[in-house]
Amino acid sequence: MTRNVGIGVIAMGWMGMTHSRAYQQIVHRFPQSDLTPRLVICADSEPSRTDEAVQRFGFERTTSDWRAVLADADVEVVSITAPNGLHREMCLAAFDAGKHVFCEKPVGRCPAETLEIAAAARDSGVHTFTGFCYRWSPVVQELKKLIEDGRLGDLTHYRGRFFCGYGHNPYRVLSWRFQKEHAGFGVLGDLMSHTLDMALMLAGPISEVVSQQETFTPQRPLPSSTGTHFSEQSGGPVGPVSNEDYVGAMVRFSGGARGTLEACRVIAGSDCEHAFELNGTRGAARWNFERMNELELFLDDAHPDQPGYARLQTRPQYPHHADFNPGGSVGLGYEDLMTIEVHEFLRGVVEDRSVEPGLDQMARVAAVQDAMARSWESRTWEAVAAAVAE
Ligand SMILES: NC(=O)c1ccc[n+]([C@@H]2O[C@H](COP(=O)([O-])OP(=O)(O)OC[C@H]3O[C@@H](n4cnc5c(N)ncnc54)[C@H](O)[C@@H]3O)[C@@H](O)[C@H]2O)c1
Repeated sequence: MTRNVGIGVIAMGWMGMTHSRAYQQIVHRFPQSDLTPRLVICADSEPSRTDEAVQRFGFERTTSDWRAVLADADVEVVSITAPNGLHREMCLAAFDAGKHVFCEKPVGRCPAETLEIAAAARDSGVHTFTGFCYRWSPVVQELKKLIEDGRLGDLTHYRGRFFCGYGHNPYRVLSWRFQKEHAGFGVLGDLMSHTLDMALMLAGPISEVVSQQETFTPQRPLPSSTGTHFSEQSGGPVGPVSNEDYVGAMVRFSGGARGTLEACRVIAGSDCEHAFELNGTRGAARWNFERMNELELFLDDAHPDQPGYARLQTRPQYPHHADFNPGGSVGLGYEDLMTIEVHEFLRGVVEDRSVEPGLDQMARVAAVQDAMARSWESRTWEAVAAAVAE
């Protein structure tokens, strides 16, 4: 029998719209789950955004007061897709209201805030989830299985990066993302969260880091109206960028691998280069979201006399591919990864079990971010504290 799940979405910017679309896709992509998300209510401080959400997705109600979403008895699950600076208050209120919460990364403005929110979630007993969408690419999930099965041997090297040049153009406005007050950290929270989730998922815990940061574009145009980080403006007043554009780190994994991680939002040339290369004692792999349906893979045992990478295309045998397409090489896109993640979360909610990545995984990421930020001050290696009792 179909299980209806009442959904509330708080903040209808890019992610609010994307989450809403993803919830709607569940009935089409995962009919076997018999889950029917019901878009009950959405909130945004800009009425034009909620009007648009009603038109596009058919929300039953709208509000400019996000607390009304949490007070709504028909809402079981809440997506929190507001700017980072609002997440703490919204999450804590949602836990108090007994709602299950999907909060977008990086959850808190700083690692301490993220850890506080994750601890409160644990105490409240609600189910939580966070938006590490890239991990759901079928080829990445297939690689994860190969690593877990030992096909690549012991991992020795990991190089992760997220070069997403949304701020490369200096006329892109001073949106909330570039302001410490609203975003908290810059790319340490925004992009490095994704890089770290992928690294921790594939290569295991990180024990020590040494890190550096830089702000290459110190000021940006003040937006004349509400704008996103994709809005451009020139000729008017400018304001200071108050968080970092770039973070780089050398890392030591507890399992023995050594690696580097980098993230930058002003880099030239790369639009959404969320990528990794990893090497083990018996194999190697590399992936780049810009070609998210491809995986380059080398396995000693597959081609012992032919060293070199094979280029694999996504195919129905890989996790989740067949939910979208019956044919090999008929690829998925970014929003399909969002559909997979909201489906994973809602299944966990209706089956009353925790699913990864929840706020505990976000806490593991935050613990590494905390060590990176400490290293900027100490200019030396910093140990990563345990974030979650494992
Ligand atoms: N997982 C991913 O790939 C991914 C991608 C982009 C953004 N994000 C995360 O999603 C979150 C939102 O980012 P975005 O790009 O959608 O932002 P955005 O700027 O596009 O949208 C933010 C929305 O919040 C609304 N808002 C602001 N104050 C509000 C309030 N008090 N009450 C209700 N609504 C309010 C704004 O009007 C706007 O519609 C951030 O935490 C970001 O890090 C995740």
